[in-house]
This record gives sequence, structure tokens and C-alpha cells, in this order.
Amino acid sequence: MPRRQVPFQPSAVRRSLLGWFGSHARRLPWRKTRSPYAIWVSEVMLQQTQVATVIPYYTRFLHAFPDVRSLARAPLERVLELWSGLGYYRRARHLHQAAQLIVRKFQGRFPRQYRDGRALPGIGEYTAHAVLSIAFNQPYAVLDGNVARVVARLRARRGNLHQRSFRQAVESDLERLLSPRRPGDFNQAMMELGQTVCLPRAPRCRICPLKKWCRASELGKAESYPAPRPRRATELRYLAVAVIRRGSRVALVRGLDEGLMSGLWNFPSGFGATRQAAFANLAEKLHSLAPGWIEVGRTIGRLRHGITFRTIRAEVYSATVSDPLTGRSWRWVDLADFPRAAVSQLARKIAAILPQVS
Ligand code: ADE
Repeated sequence: MPRRQVPFQPSAVRRSLLGWFGSHARRLPWRKTRSPYAIWVSEVMLQQTQVATVIPYYTRFLHAFPDVRSLARAPLERVLELWSGLGYYRRARHLHQAAQLIVRKFQGRFPRQYRDGRALPGIGEYTAHAVLSIAFNQPYAVLDGNVARVVARLRARRGNLHQRSFRQAVESDLERLLSPRRPGDFNQAMMELGQTVCLPRAPRCRICPLKKWCRASELGKAESYPAPRPRRATELRYLAVAVIRRGSRVALVRGLDEGLMSGLWNFPSGFGATRQAAFANLAEKLHSLAPGWIEVGRTIGRLRHGITFRTIRAEVYSATVSDPLTGRSWRWVDLADFPRAAVSQLARKIAAILPQVS
């Protein structure tokens, strides 16, 4: 006989969730602080990046920029260096711009008003809700993919967050559940449950503090809620890369191609749908960036790299140019300085396959 479900009681669900969070919360570095600035930095890093990856970046970032003013004063280049490897670099540029605005308009303190926070660069509804609830205990519910999964299972709702009816239903469930007294802990507890217990493919229902109320678990198929994931196909792109060397130094340009990685230094590169098209694109780009003759020589390596929905097949060529490449578009970087420079992960990978100079 299947066990009869306990009726949905938001206050009991919330109590059980917060009790569980009290004893099971991971000791993450941003949970040791009350600084709205530090919490904001953590939430921006966590927007598209997993907790385990974020931890060392967060620690280094806070060490380099312990408060809003130190971040606002820093050169963007330094901010990007510390961000290098986290991806989605627009987040870093926005964080830097927002820090400058906070210094100018709010005396260096993260604004407590929703409208003021939401108007800052890089702060969408999600981040505004997260920062205001965690740092200032304001009653805003955070809804991300993990939280949606927990709610969808609890209430046996099907759909995904791009569907308006599903989103509205989940938002309204969440409003009823949100703890008015401890909204920040509630939000973090929901995220924690989604990340550690209510897992997408293999939910650990046996240890779940919400099992008593969970309709999907009662139906015996928690993993089939909220819905099978729509898969976005990854796009395969060819990239031709030119390595121009002088001893241990290499010539880099800002950005990659097609607007990607715009703040970071990269080997000059061109995308294409085929290897030949990528090569032609690269040759054209070099011509426009380096007047005089260029010679793109033999292939010195091949590698694959993934960014968001692209799989990049990079063909790395050695190249020589007559131009000294001293203009603003170029920068000569010593390979030994790569670990500290604002260069992309892809550029680091390419540097790693280059023959050493003796
Ligand atoms: N993901 C986004 N915000 C988070 C937080 N505060 N703790 C854990 N995971 C998160």
C-alpha cells in the first residue's frame, strides 16, 4: 500500500527545511560573512558556475578586493585576471561597473532598496532577490533551476522555467513557502536541497527533509519531474589560431572572434563553419590588424575546447608578420606570465601545447 500523503502545509515544510539546513548546510565561504558586498560577489559568481568551482575564485577575489571601494578603484584588467577561468566575463565587467556606481551613488554600500539594486549592471531579478534576502533578510524568493526542481517535485508540476504557466505556478508555490522571518536561509536551504539531495537524475529521497510532502516522490518517480530536459544541441565550430612568437613572447589581441571573450587577451583567431573558412577568416583578420605581409605557416597543434554551447575545434598555425605589432590592438605577453595575465582559458590551453624555446 502506498503511504498516504500528508497535506501540503507550507509552515511545516518550511520548518523541516530550515531545521535540515541548520544541521546540514555546507560551510561555504560566503556563508561566513554578513557583508552585502561579499554576498553580492558570491551570487554573481554562482549565477552560471558551480559551487565547487566558485570557491577558490571567490576567496582570491575577496582577498584582492575586500570591499566595494577596492573593487571600484581596481583596473578592469586586474578584475578580469582574477575572473579568468570562471567564464561569462561580462559578469566581471558588470561587477566592476556596478562597484563604481555604488561608490558614486550609494557611498560604497550595496543599496537596500530593490529598485536601486536591480538597476545596477549585471543584477537581474535573481541576483537582486538573492542579495537582498541573504544580506538584508528581505522577503524575496530566489528561483533558479535547482529551486524550481524542488518545488516542481513537491507539487508534482511539469514544465520548465521558459513556460509561463509553469513559472507562474512555481513562483506562487514558492511565495507560499518562503519564510517571512528567515528568507535568506530559506532561499539558501532550497538551493542546497536542490544541489545536494533533490538531484536531477538520482534524487536522494530517502534522506530528504521534505519527503513527507513530496507528491513526485509519492508517485514513485521524482526524477521525471519537472520534465525531461530539452537539450540544446552543441554547435561545432572551427577556429583557426595564429601563434606569432618572438622568443618566449607571443602576440595577443583582445577578444576571440564574433564578440566572444571581449575583455580577455587571445591569440589572433577566426571562426568558420569549416577548417578552410576559419583559415580564410583568420588571414583576413590578420591583414586588417597587421599591415604589411603575413605568412600563416604550418599547423603546430590541434585542440578542442568547449564554451557554453559551442565545441571549438582549433587548428593552431605558426605565423610571421612584417609589422612590429606595437599598435593598441596588440600586446606581447611572455609565456611565463600567462598564469597571471588576463588571457582566456583557451589561450592558456594553446600556450601549453607550444614548443618551448630553449
Ligand atoms: N547558488 C546560488 N547562490 C547560492 C548560495 N548562496 N549558496 C549555494 N549555492 C548557490
